[in-house]
Amino acid sequence: MSTLIINIKELLQIREPNVIKVSGEEMKTLPSIKNAYLLIQDDTISDFGPMDQCPSLTAEETIDATGKIVMPTWCDSHTHIVYAGNREQEFVDRINGLSYEDIANRGGGIVNSAAKLQNTSEEELYNQSVARVKSVIKLGTGALEIKSGYGLTTEAEMKMLRVIKRIKQEFPIEVKATFLGAHALPKEYKENKEGYVDLIINEMLPQIAKENLANYIDVFCEKGYFSLEDTERIMEAGKKYNLQSKIHVNQFNAFGGIALSVKHNALSVDHLEELNDDDIQALKGSSTMPVALPSCSYFLSIPYSPGRKMIDAGLPLALASDYNPGSTPSGNMNFVVSTACIKMRLTPEEAINAATINGAYAMGISNAYGSITKGKKANLIITKQVPSYNYLPYSFGENLIEKVLINGKAVE
Ligand code: NIG
Ligand code: FE
Repeated sequence: MSTLIINIKELLQIREPNVIKVSGEEMKTLPSIKNAYLLIQDDTISDFGPMDQCPSLTAEETIDATGKIVMPTWCDSHTHIVYAGNREQEFVDRINGLSYEDIANRGGGIVNSAAKLQNTSEEELYNQSVARVKSVIKLGTGALEIKSGYGLTTEAEMKMLRVIKRIKQEFPIEVKATFLGAHALPKEYKENKEGYVDLIINEMLPQIAKENLANYIDVFCEKGYFSLEDTERIMEAGKKYNLQSKIHVNQFNAFGGIALSVKHNALSVDHLEELNDDDIQALKGSSTMPVALPSCSYFLSIPYSPGRKMIDAGLPLALASDYNPGSTPSGNMNFVVSTACIKMRLTPEEAINAATINGAYAMGISNAYGSITKGKKANLIITKQVPSYNYLPYSFGENLIEKVLINGKAVE
């Protein structure tokens, strides 16, 4: 099957195959070709270039992209898209004055979602999650990392990870699974945190590894959740099963979790709303990708991660949605990119780099996703007619996507 896209107003984010992430100054540019063509063979980008060099071949399908931008789909490297029910009542409680912390302290929050998930069948959990997956694909997401962490028992964590596996098998987008048993302390372990960390390490991890249900391991490293010591124990246990870590850190407090994650060669550190100069120093020269989640800051009214400062310090930065029922009930990466420009002062080029190639890096897939590169998967966004790519983040809340191609096929 071949598809030829012609008369593309601008083909964005063209990268050499060896570029797996971009940092600092490099993030300011978004290599592109104006008036371009792109050829897809089966599921792969096979050729592209200026329109005046377009080969005269008869493709099985031709798409005219006059006035439209073509770019890689978003790589959303941090989601909790598999969950049961919702937490709309907590949303109202916060409007009425309770904080995220108050709600968690009175038994709401993550353990509220865990109770719902434990009482939901695997089939029903799959159905609820699939509706969200379909909706984010239509919004231009072509790769998703999905975490467990709303189970908090061995059985329920396994249920979540099996649902993620099924999504992986049944959808054409790339999916990576992350085990987040250390998301919150279940009620039964309220006075016995060590016992719960032991359960994660000695019972959950071996079973998950045996069934090959996870690609990465995560910990919510935060005051009132899991300490540096807990986080280190879990990262080390993960390594025994070849699970690299992606850590929730610095959401509410900065206390050394970033340096610890870098020391353990974490693939990413995510949230970073509270970030100090030591954290920035720890990330410099490392292979760990900082990931900002601006929709979470928007929804919880907490500070935005200082993305401007990180990029100016020469660091790379990725953007992800954090789609989850408590802090970010949205997986719209277009909104994430806009919000990063509006609230974090990223330029459109920086935000698009952060949500494509750097997002791909933060989920370990930038060899095959995240840019327009020959041989990479043909996961593409074709926009509506727009004046320029700046117009995409500028028009926040608008849906300017006309078509999404996943593995070369249009999503219906
Ligand atoms: O990434 N911070 C930890 N976990 C999620 C939110 C969890 C929840 O409130 O359900 C997050 O924001
Ligand atoms: Fe999260």
